[in-house]
Amino acid sequence: MNLETIQFKNNRLIIIDQTLLPFQEKFLNLQTLEEVIEAIKSLKVRGAPAIGIVAAYGLVVHAINLKKQNLLTFQSLKIAANQLKQARPTAVNLSWAVERLLNAIKDLNTPEKVITRLKKEAIDIHQEDKSTCDKIGTFGSSLIKPEANILTHCNTGFLATGGIGTALGVVYKAFQQNKKVHVFVDETRPVGQGARLTYWELKRVQIPATLITDNMAGFLMQQGKIDIVITGADRIAANGDTANKIGTYSLAVMARFHKIPFYIAAPLSTFDLSLPNGNQIPIEERSSQEVLQCWHLEKEKYYHVYNPAFDITPAHLISGIITELGIINKPFNKNIRKLLNQLN
Ligand code: MRU
Repeated sequence: MNLETIQFKNNRLIIIDQTLLPFQEKFLNLQTLEEVIEAIKSLKVRGAPAIGIVAAYGLVVHAINLKKQNLLTFQSLKIAANQLKQARPTAVNLSWAVERLLNAIKDLNTPEKVITRLKKEAIDIHQEDKSTCDKIGTFGSSLIKPEANILTHCNTGFLATGGIGTALGVVYKAFQQNKKVHVFVDETRPVGQGARLTYWELKRVQIPATLITDNMAGFLMQQGKIDIVITGADRIAANGDTANKIGTYSLAVMARFHKIPFYIAAPLSTFDLSLPNGNQIPIEERSSQEVLQCWHLEKEKYYHVYNPAFDITPAHLISGIITELGIINKPFNKNIRKLLNQLN
């Protein structure tokens, strides 16, 4: 069911270029730190777990390049790690992954040992994400009725992770269990992750899907056409407030109004317990071109545009959070900590 959209073979980092989908399945070999950062910034690779995995491999590629020039030091890797972290600020998986690599090598004293350890850690992050997605999918599929219309936003499948995905992973597992699932795919303005990527994924695995524009979701809910809403997350604060693709908050408000369950599916690496609530989650603002390009207005200088890439859904609008260790129910403050403590 899944496609290897991120590969690390013979020290080569290869990703599918998501900006070209659904028209072209082109793979890119990222050879330098700069190329990795550019790929993350320009959304060639995107989705919280996927950018964490690619950043981790990116640090490995950079370490190998530095070693060839006799320039590999902990300090040089720390600088590179900071540059990677700044590529996109909202998804905590990115800094989580590079911090994990730095931590793993802090006591090592030869370039050979550093590179071997960095590689192992990056591959572990990738492999762990695969099994994490499977578990999220399995736990989440218990929420899906034998026949269900599921609404999702953005892209959370095998393009966005190292495995089958988070919210889409739930759909894939339910489908494998022979449930009759049908997905309403929000197009996800302005970049179109739903229209271009989620629809492409679902078509590839032959799951019935219907594309809608983002402003149609409320009407579908009013018509009783949606049984459940499931989205992913880029960062979840200690109280359950969740940052995800812009438009998620509106869906959660509308789902509450229509008494439709609204679930978040995310790995534990997306939680940021250093933040008590969502107010402190940094929200990436992206170029005005993304908003204007749909109408070929890029060259019109008189447009003033605001383009926040994410929004925050307050915890009280979320029915539950599907993780690899189970579904977290309310009260989130207590239950998130309880679940994360199991990791220590
Ligand atoms: O800007 P993007 O495309 O990286 O945003 C992605 C999302 O908002 C996803 O829902 C989130 O990262 C979870 S992906 C499993």
